[in-house]
Amino acid sequence: MKDEKSVIGEVISFVKEAMLEHESGHGWSHIERVVRMALHIRESEGRGERLTVELGALLHDVGDHKFRAHDGPAEIRRLLERLGVDSKVTDEVVRINENISFSKGRRPDSAGIEFRIVQDADRLDAIGAIGIARAFSYGGFSGNEIYDPRISIADPPLLAGTGSKSASTIHHFYDKLLLLKDLMNTPTGRRLAEERHDYMVRYLERFFMEWNTGSM
Ligand code: ADP
Ligand code: NI
Repeated sequence: MKDEKSVIGEVISFVKEAMLEHESGHGWSHIERVVRMALHIRESEGRGERLTVELGALLHDVGDHKFRAHDGPAEIRRLLERLGVDSKVTDEVVRINENISFSKGRRPDSAGIEFRIVQDADRLDAIGAIGIARAFSYGGFSGNEIYDPRISIADPPLLAGTGSKSASTIHHFYDKLLLLKDLMNTPTGRRLAEERHDYMVRYLERFFMEWNTGSM
């Protein structure tokens, strides 16, 4: 294998290139935050192979349905093989990429700690203040209303995991974002998710308070 620094450098170039066609909410800054958070969780947990966590976080969204031009697993395998990355690390990074998304919703029982760490980091970026910003950014990009009061929030079934479109961005909180806290894998992730979750709950209370002020 090339030295770790140049492997990571080449992977960063590859990911930036692959993100050029990104949709809102999936820019390079999301990847940077997920890498940072994943490394933080790993430190705090004191487990997980470092290179696998870092490469897994860097490559987790390549081939996402929002990057249609890319076949994630095949391209990642080719890239890491070319860079001489250990085949065990490569296999795990490919597995992370294949299994991470919320809509696929899988957490294979056999999943390694590295997968669990990267999934927590990705989910943390969807909640709290950053998550709120990303949701409205994505909603605006998709032409959704911020909120549609004609559609009941409590209306089951929840859309979580079905890949269906939320009725509005506020509905997306109930379809997905408020559910993430209970899906965290690691103690560190759970602790951070609880803070971010509480912040979203306060935000939503305030949102409805303002929305309803003066209504009869
Ligand atoms: P991930 O890559 O974490 O699986 P997605 O690709 O589903 O996340 O979505 C990327 C970002 O856009 C997330 O912050 C998510 O909450 C937000 N998002 C996805 N669908 C919607 C929606 N219908 N309305 C508002 N935000 C959305
Ligand atoms: Ni992501």
